[in-house]
Amino acid sequence: MSTNDPVTTQPAAPTAEPQRIAPDTWLVPNLVPSGPGQFLFVNTMVILAEEPVVVDTGAPLHREQWLDAVTSLVDPEDVRWVFLSHDDGDHIGNMAALLDRAPNATVVANFFSAERASLEPDRALPLDRMVWLEEGSSFDAGDRRLHLMRPPIFDGPTTRGLYDERTGVMWAADSFGAFTTGAVYDAADLPPDLYDESFRLINSLVSPWHQWLDAGVYGRHVDRVEALGATTIASGHGPVLRGPFIAGAFDRVRAMAGQPIVPPPGQEVLDELVAQLLAGTVPAT
Ligand SMILES: [Fe+2]
Ligand SMILES: [Fe+2]
Repeated sequence: MSTNDPVTTQPAAPTAEPQRIAPDTWLVPNLVPSGPGQFLFVNTMVILAEEPVVVDTGAPLHREQWLDAVTSLVDPEDVRWVFLSHDDGDHIGNMAALLDRAPNATVVANFFSAERASLEPDRALPLDRMVWLEEGSSFDAGDRRLHLMRPPIFDGPTTRGLYDERTGVMWAADSFGAFTTGAVYDAADLPPDLYDESFRLINSLVSPWHQWLDAGVYGRHVDRVEALGATTIASGHGPVLRGPFIAGAFDRVRAMAGQPIVPPPGQEVLDELVAQLLAGTVPAT
């Protein structure tokens, strides 16, 4: 390594294969290293509805493997809808590449996500291939309606989640994040301590405004999302939630209202990471 080489933090991550999480519904996971023995999910989803839906498009970092995974599930020519939860780079990152391959797809977005994305030409959304829908509305994918809602935790103002009334699957976007140990996708299969601690950290990092929330007002919003009655929850950065993990996740975010933020890793963690990289104990790419 020369002194001009960037010091990066990208050791190898396990290969993540698509996971069938409900009828017609596939999680398309990718993993990013996030500390010793733990990984951050960067997930998207595919719904093989009568009119197939791609839910978010992942990060540029995973472009080739993401396109391979999605096109192994659905012929891109058949993709009818691309639902964009919000315009952050890890959700919009492969939108243009997908739309190039999916000429019959319409993007489900909103005014502000289109406006924000337009500031970067590589990410701009095609106005003539888009519909703008807000929370509380829905769209028809042929054999089901998909309902838009505002997930309880979010880091971008354009964020909308999605609820599939036919399967009971909810896409929670940036809500309910937690680290994993590798190619482990279900919350029930993760070490409870890792799930507890990383859920607290990630959800606080994503929405630090939780410290100023009124528990009553916020709790009613969380209640409304929970009342949709999801039986499976998938998200951009968390494991799949089922059974008691669903009520548990809503309870956890409800309890964040008015509580102090969880302190993020600080300079000492960065110093240690750089020292390990320079010593060659963490492989850089
Ligand atoms: Fe985000
Ligand atoms: Fe995200």
